[in-house]
Amino acid sequence: MIMVTGGAGFIGANFILDWIAAEGTAVLNLDKLTYAGNLGNLASLTNDSRHIFVRGDINDRPLVGRLLAEHKPRAIVHFAAESHVDRSIHGPDEFIQTNLLGTFNLLEEVRSYWNGLAQEAHSAFRFLHISTDEVYGSLNADDAPFREDTPYAPNSPYSASKAGSDHLVRAYHHTYELPTLTTHCSNNYGPYQFPEKLIALVVHNALAGKALPVYGKGLNVRDWLYVGDHCSSLRSVLARGRAGETYNIGGNNELTNIEVVRMICGELDRLRPRASGTYADLISFVTDRPGHDLRYAIDATKINRELGWRPQETFATGLAKTVRWYLDHAEWVRDVTSGAYRNWVEQNYLSRGNT
Ligand code: NAD
Ligand code: TYD
Repeated sequence: MIMVTGGAGFIGANFILDWIAAEGTAVLNLDKLTYAGNLGNLASLTNDSRHIFVRGDINDRPLVGRLLAEHKPRAIVHFAAESHVDRSIHGPDEFIQTNLLGTFNLLEEVRSYWNGLAQEAHSAFRFLHISTDEVYGSLNADDAPFREDTPYAPNSPYSASKAGSDHLVRAYHHTYELPTLTTHCSNNYGPYQFPEKLIALVVHNALAGKALPVYGKGLNVRDWLYVGDHCSSLRSVLARGRAGETYNIGGNNELTNIEVVRMICGELDRLRPRASGTYADLISFVTDRPGHDLRYAIDATKINRELGWRPQETFATGLAKTVRWYLDHAEWVRDVTSGAYRNWVEQNYLSRGNT
């Protein structure tokens, strides 16, 4: 079996569903169930013995040590993190606790477990660390996309905490020869995304007839990766990636935020037209994010050349699937937008004001 951390979150849950469908082998899922963790994402596995869920913190070393000894995973896929830039601006503490200290505590327990493995299991073992393109900082419009050797320049508490965790992973390979793999992906979108990140939030607000908040002038650029493509890339990296290496994963879909928001509105106008007007009438420009990175872009040549991976979805096809999924899963959206969610909306948006 493999062990996944943070498997009740957006990408982790998609990864577990994809893994069980594609590989068919068991997954031990360790997740603290923060506001972002939702077992409803894995409801289709409720009676499937291949999914073993344990609620717990990656900082709980006795628990992690026990789970490793008991289940003897052949690999760890480490997603658990605080993942939202805006939340890291409002309160960075949890980001240091989970992303930096949590990764350290996990690495220590994994190192001890790995050292005790018999030779064959020892050499086949892998620690796959899921990082982000944000550790490379911000690009100008005409800069070349991020490569694996682009220097680190994180700008937000979130990206700084992820950069710190990447350095620890690198050091555990260099110093202890732990067989690590690190991936840096661009912005994911797709089913089961919590409606705090741009695409899920805009779909959610549009359907509720609420304003669609665009920070600044909406001209910041992101590369968008469909989560199913991300999951397939991670299976490739785990199967054939070289220990100690890093791989950048992108969707070849660079767009400004305003383009993204307008495309979502267009998709909704097609699938669920409003009584009058278009969803684009709801767009509202609000005060910008402090320290807002202008542009992220990924050069995914290495993973393509070494592992033969490339994304299957264009932004148009991935977005159509995503919008359709949210329309078909209104009860999932209702369940995740609890009281805690409403508090967040108040904290992040009411103070911004329109520009
Ligand atoms: P998410 O916020 O949806 O999910 C994170 C999960 O981790 C949740 O289920 C949460 O309960 C769990 N968790 C948090 N703290 C924990 C702890 N201390 N112990 C155990 N579990 C804990 O995040 P996501 O969007 O699925 O992102 C997954 C990973 O991918 C993160 O490491 C993130 O940095 C990285 N990433 C995400 C994106 C993106 O676009 N979403 C892009 C690049 C990289
Ligand atoms: P987000 O989904 O938070 O991801 P990240 O900050 O990790 O890239 O934001 C994506 C882009 O959308 C980013 O440039 C900020 C912008 N944005 C808005 O314009 N409005 C919003 O309400 C949110 C959440 C994000």
